[in-house]
Amino acid sequence: MPTKVIKNGTIVTADRTWKADVKIDGGKIVQIGQNLSADEVLDATGCYVMPGGIDPHVHLEMPFMGTHSADNFESGTRAGLSGGTTMVVDFILPAPEQSLLEALAIWQQKSSLACSDYSYHMAITWWGEQVFNEMAEVVDRGINTFKHFMAYKGALMVDDDEMFSSFQRCSALGALPLVHAENGDVVASLQQRLLAEGNNGPEAHAYSRPPEVEGEAANRAIMIADMANVPLYIVHTSCEQAHEAIRRARQKGMRVYGEPLIQHLVLDESEYQNADWDHAAQRVMSPPFRNKLHQDSLWAGLQAGSLQVVATDHCSFTIDQKRFGVGDFTKIPNGTGGLEDRMPVLWTRGVNTGRLTMNEFVAVTSTNIAKILNMYPRKGAIVEGADADIVVWDPEREKTISAKAQQSVIEYNVFEGIKVKGLPRFTLTRGKVAIEESTVKAEPGHGEFVAREPFQAVNRALSRWKELTAPRRVERSGIPATGV
Ligand code: URP
Ligand code: ZN
Ligand code: ZN
Ligand code: ZN
Repeated sequence: MPTKVIKNGTIVTADRTWKADVKIDGGKIVQIGQNLSADEVLDATGCYVMPGGIDPHVHLEMPFMGTHSADNFESGTRAGLSGGTTMVVDFILPAPEQSLLEALAIWQQKSSLACSDYSYHMAITWWGEQVFNEMAEVVDRGINTFKHFMAYKGALMVDDDEMFSSFQRCSALGALPLVHAENGDVVASLQQRLLAEGNNGPEAHAYSRPPEVEGEAANRAIMIADMANVPLYIVHTSCEQAHEAIRRARQKGMRVYGEPLIQHLVLDESEYQNADWDHAAQRVMSPPFRNKLHQDSLWAGLQAGSLQVVATDHCSFTIDQKRFGVGDFTKIPNGTGGLEDRMPVLWTRGVNTGRLTMNEFVAVTSTNIAKILNMYPRKGAIVEGADADIVVWDPEREKTISAKAQQSVIEYNVFEGIKVKGLPRFTLTRGKVAIEESTVKAEPGHGEFVAREPFQAVNRALSRWKELTAPRRVERSGIPATGV
């Protein structure tokens, strides 16, 4: 590959903003400085040169609710690149009783046409000696994060004893547990009551998953993680109740991370009241969209640092797939898209409004994610030696989001009609230009798996602390004779 230099731009990282050129060779950043030259020049005049976005939470071609999510690794990563996201982390979902390694092989097959780099989380969907043993092999293969669904009763859900066993195993292996925090028993019960009362439309999806359902599960997972002596990552934190649990845990010194989604930051519960069934059903996801008070809490969390990352949970379904749930909201496949829109929408609603600084934007879309998932500074950084996953961001470029122009294969977009200002001029994946303004040059199969090492520092610190504070017998010299 010829060498490249990104010239005349302003580099923006999670902690600095400065003017410099960035030289790329062999897919890596090789030099940062003034007046650099190379075989090819990418002009970044008027632009910010930032680490490419990392989406820590996507479901591409996910087997779920009797179907598969519509975007696969090819269309999903192409959508990501179009919006400045240069890496995604997908969830491997073993079927009940299925070997984790067998499921891994299926996901490797699915991701062969990825246009950008990717990594995996492994879901713990059942428990047994085989799972316990295979978790070690999974960590050896570069997957150090294990996901637990506290909802989807009868399908993906695990219960507390399984979660506690798995969290302890994570602790021993230097792995990080993730949870989907919703009380699946309460949801199942509310669903049945709503249906029995004739509430079968998509709005009932939201009624069946109030914030308390999420807050309770977040608190429970945090306490279980604390007892298992392991950090915890809570996916799609959508409400104040869950955020409050995370804040409280962090104040007590626990390593707990919270991940709001771009959907929850900007879309609200009124979407489910729309008179058009399709419109409302297309917004059905778990947790559901919330009201403004919850949205303000999530923004405040990003500002204050009690919430660390912004994801999409990209899990798109076509109109026909959503219609599986006509007459019974519990059969509407749960999930929405967002891969192409996360960065422009967060920039527009966050940076352009003054809610986030540019550096905070980089932190929550890239750097914090790379650190929390243990792939920093190979990803999430503009430093010599890092992968050249870079977005050259033009703060003046504008568009109105429209399904007609999107990369995702579905027919609609939950952000339809939103005007964004701030879009990629170039997106580079390991040094290759995949996006040049609206021209898509992404190459299926270019993406590679990113292996992530087990966590050393936090797990070692936690086990050292546990050892020091373990219950110990007090040795006494003179023990009095038993009283009479
Ligand atoms: O509704 C959602 N979020 N669908 C994807 C699966 C999950 O729970 O993350
Ligand atoms: Zn059990
Ligand atoms: Zn989930
Ligand atoms: Zn998800």
